[in-house]
Amino acid sequence: MEGHMDHDEEPNLTDSTGENELEIPAALGSESDKEDEVAYTVRAQKGETEIFDGTKTKTLGYNGDFLGPVLRFNKGDKVKIKTINDLDEETTFHWHGLEVPGEADGGPHESLKPGEEKVIEFEVTQEASTLWFHPHPDGETAEQVYNGLAGLIYIEDNNSEDLGLPDKYGENDIPLIFQDKTFDDEKQLNYSAAMNEDGTVGDTSLINGTLNPKLTVNQEKVRLRLLNGSNARNYTFKLNTGDSFEQIATDGGMLNEPEKLNEITLTPSERAEIVIDFSQLDAEDELALINDEDGSTLLPFEVSDQKGEDSDLPDKMNDFSITDEEKNLPVAKKVELYGMMDKVTINGKKFDPDRIDFTQEQGDTEVWEIYNKPDEMGGMVHPFHIHGAQYKVLSRDGEEPPKNEQGWKDTISVEPDETVKVAVQFKEKGVYMFHCHNLEHEDNGMMGQVKVE
Ligand code: C2O
Ligand code: CU
Repeated sequence: MEGHMDHDEEPNLTDSTGENELEIPAALGSESDKEDEVAYTVRAQKGETEIFDGTKTKTLGYNGDFLGPVLRFNKGDKVKIKTINDLDEETTFHWHGLEVPGEADGGPHESLKPGEEKVIEFEVTQEASTLWFHPHPDGETAEQVYNGLAGLIYIEDNNSEDLGLPDKYGENDIPLIFQDKTFDDEKQLNYSAAMNEDGTVGDTSLINGTLNPKLTVNQEKVRLRLLNGSNARNYTFKLNTGDSFEQIATDGGMLNEPEKLNEITLTPSERAEIVIDFSQLDAEDELALINDEDGSTLLPFEVSDQKGEDSDLPDKMNDFSITDEEKNLPVAKKVELYGMMDKVTINGKKFDPDRIDFTQEQGDTEVWEIYNKPDEMGGMVHPFHIHGAQYKVLSRDGEEPPKNEQGWKDTISVEPDETVKVAVQFKEKGVYMFHCHNLEHEDNGMMGQVKVE
């Protein structure tokens, strides 16, 4: 991937040595079957985590010291969540990728002061997918995420078993949050030290908060749910042997069919589900997932017994399609992304919480055209995210998008001088953010608001 990430200031990530077994976050299912009761409690809190042996690092977490549990929902669930702010600062609870009413979305307007709590409600109407949640306070999002406020959401895939896809949580269905951090001499997280012209780019890689993780594999096929949960770093996931894997899902749901790939790039906040068939790989090789952006080892696999039956992945998993009508819609909204560091803008403007940039009718499908305008330095990739909707990618510079973007997306990488068209429909009403998900750009005002009425 092009952009500023290639230049000489790129720090070298410490190579993962596979010393520690990967932490698997607890899964949080509904605490109640009664619709009128609070079924989930999500508390933002301060914590201390032993990331390095023998040292406590100050961190933030949801319902724990660092990061969050995996929230598990089913399509059709009426969800009630009690959100609690136990931090010393304001925060919000944003459900990234969920199609919820604006007032439940947790954008900068839904800020909770320290000690405040709020119950939010919504119905899960969308398909099986891997989403996530994180804070979104105005101008303070990046540091809170950096310090540990991030968790995954699964909308359960009740077809996985029929389709023969790996679906045993923590065994062959593995949630993975990739983040890069910089620590100071006391091994404390140091947000400002990680800042460079790309945003915060740390020199130490953590997966689910684990330093130097390894994953023990004793299943033939393993499904990895990848979230690029970093503030500003792109990851190109690849096996060190160059062997292929199959992508089965994108941000907002299953692809129609598995897509065989040798590598996949995710910009901040993008997700992908991939399946690695370890029975087809040479166990003699020291297998690992690497980041091909810098060659660093992310996750070595310790492959033990290969149990399970040899079976193919399904050739049909979903029926996502883009209609001719959608393809022929005129452009309704233009978004021009520009700049870097604190000079970032959308359509020449910085975020103003009192300004509505666009309006759109609930249920209408509109084409948004996103253009990344280069600057004197050439510009950089901007991951463009819209709240409250999963959208369809119509084209990249007029061409059909790659196969693995022909599925529901809520964040899309836009290269310098590239134009991406997406078809967007909001199912609910309210005010939603759209922004660059490089979180330093977002905090610096590369964000606007669309009011759905
Ligand atoms: Cu991941 Cu505005 O959000
Ligand atoms: Cu950006």
